[in-house]
Amino acid sequence: MKRSRVNEIIREGDAFIRSFGYVMPPFAYWSPEELKNRRPAGIVDARLGWDITDYGQGKYDQLGLFLFTVRNGRAEDLSRGGGMLYAEKIMISRKNQLSPMHRHVVKAEDIINRGGGKLVLELFMPDEEGGIDHHREVVVPTDGVIRRLPAGGLLKLDPGESVTLMPGVWHAFWGEGSDVLIGEVSTVNDDLTDNIFAEPIGRFSQIEEDEAPLHLLVSDYDRFIHGKA
Ligand SMILES: [Fe+2]
Repeated sequence: MKRSRVNEIIREGDAFIRSFGYVMPPFAYWSPEELKNRRPAGIVDARLGWDITDYGQGKYDQLGLFLFTVRNGRAEDLSRGGGMLYAEKIMISRKNQLSPMHRHVVKAEDIINRGGGKLVLELFMPDEEGGIDHHREVVVPTDGVIRRLPAGGLLKLDPGESVTLMPGVWHAFWGEGSDVLIGEVSTVNDDLTDNIFAEPIGRFSQIEEDEAPLHLLVSDYDRFIHGKA
């Protein structure tokens, strides 16, 4: 996807998020140069920041997700069993824009409809090998209340509602009716290793540089900040 399109999505997404009264932290607005010069480990190593993904497929409007990682804990703390074990993201699923079927190994996540349209999640339980169980009933907590759905059932969340997805539970989601602002509160997040997709697919966008980046994406950090190819 072109950098000019990523820049445009960042501008539109920022306005959409602000329209709900949510304001992002100061580093969201640092220029690429400022981030490169200051490079706080708490931002760069924790991989906080912008994450506009088309899952490497080049059709963002149909298959994609806008994410911003606001905070992220430490993997060492997880193995130690105490400390900063949590993460938070703010995301936007556009109307009928699919985030494809996936599960996590480590991360439990609460997916929260923070406003806009309905958030629809298609859900499956894992089978013995971790694959999609096409028969088993789906059982998930929604704001403290257990919901039961048939395998592949659609859970529709209105603004204010949320679901807790434990590691292993397969999920795909999209906005219905209009675009949706989504919150995610989770276990420490590692997007490099902890996303297992049902179909072979990438996690990050391939960027064609047709103009300067407005802000760096998390997936730009290795190249722009650490100078790795
Ligand atoms: Fe997920």
